[in-house]
Amino acid sequence: MKILITGGAGFIGSHVVRLFTNKYPQYSICNLDKLTYAGNLENLKDVERKPNYQFFKGDIVDANFISQLFEQEKFDAVIHLAAESHVDRSISNPLEFVNTNVIGTVNLLNAAKQTWATGTPNPASGFRHLFYHVSTDEVYGTLGDTGMFTEETPYDPHSPYSASKAASDHFVRAYHDTYKLPVVISNCSNNYGPNHFPEKLIPLCIHNIKSNKPLPIYGKGENVRDWLYVEDHASAIDVIFHTATLGSTYNIGGHNEWKNIDVIRLLCKIMDSKLGRPEGTSEQLITFVKDRAGHDLRYAIDSTKLQRELSWQPSLQFEEGLAKTVDWYLANENWLNNVTSGDYKKYYEEQYAKR
Ligand code: NAD
Ligand code: DAU
Repeated sequence: MKILITGGAGFIGSHVVRLFTNKYPQYSICNLDKLTYAGNLENLKDVERKPNYQFFKGDIVDANFISQLFEQEKFDAVIHLAAESHVDRSISNPLEFVNTNVIGTVNLLNAAKQTWATGTPNPASGFRHLFYHVSTDEVYGTLGDTGMFTEETPYDPHSPYSASKAASDHFVRAYHDTYKLPVVISNCSNNYGPNHFPEKLIPLCIHNIKSNKPLPIYGKGENVRDWLYVEDHASAIDVIFHTATLGSTYNIGGHNEWKNIDVIRLLCKIMDSKLGRPEGTSEQLITFVKDRAGHDLRYAIDSTKLQRELSWQPSLQFEEGLAKTVDWYLANENWLNNVTSGDYKKYYEEQYAKR
């Protein structure tokens, strides 16, 4: 089976590429990524020479490029992660999010529809065509103090990012209903772990604690997020990819709600201990700043359907996952330095441009 994974050089995509490349040597894994500021091939150093892995640099917004790539490579399945993913950037530049997240997704749907219109997959070989769209819990909007998002919660996005992801989800469902395209969607809560770009709350604060810089907490830090270790998201994608019913949706989350301020206090405590600083040192860096516009108060994902139907379980407790994440960032100073200085772009130029 030849699988196209889009956005494989990003945070979650790189963990999905690693899992699939290592676990399924019989599959051919093709990673398509534009290498925006968020795409970093250093994330995939350990798998880039595997015989079942290939990288394609390209833009999902370029319809001609996408249709030619599908014609040439004849992918059997797609796992679509490529996106603009940062809410704050979507507030400054919404159109970029419409282009990548909506137009880019529709380009991929069109190419898959075109390629799969002829030639039926061979059930005897155990594979089926599948367009797997990786989405977010933010499409459901925001919760008050109680309740959880289920797969039936009506869409109610508030940021340009979540509006663009909601639109892309609707297009994926529309292609299933109208053209019978075999699709699956999952909506996941906040991920954390290695290779997370340091513009997002947890890696930004790890970086700032290390460098003794202020930790910017929006508003009063009372917003709640439901955190899941990134490898647990990748393992859920693996299970859903292989066993979900076509046309279905699954919520993914770890039943792990935390107020932002409590996450950062825990992170400060872990980092004080790992850096050999007296307890309470890093907390002094906490700085309350102007709130994010349209800031969703609380997300909480009910992933009962995934746990019950497909027997998926998260593997890590938050305290354990956060300590593991801090260890990774402390052991990979070069990764963080390259990303914050912009030097990581040179990696692609050196490794690929001359091939
Ligand atoms: P990321 O920003 O770290 O990575 C996105 C990747 O997509 C990058 O490698 C980037 O180069 C690539 N990309 C962007 N625009 C592209 C384009 N036009 N053509 C080709 N490639 C392009 O994002 P992430 O946090 O890894 O998120 C991956 C997916 O998972 C996204 O679809 C996001 O909406 C979804 N998601 C993320 C989270 C989270 O907590 N990070 C949670 C739930 C769902
Ligand atoms: O819920 C899933 C979503 O989680 C994904 O779809 C998004 O791609 C991903 O970026 C993430 O969105 P959030 O907006 O929740 O993540 P972020 O790390 O930007 O912010 C987490 C919380 O921390 C949020 O309430 C805003 C707050 N925050 C964030 C930053 C960057 C701060 O208080 N200070 C900050 O500097």
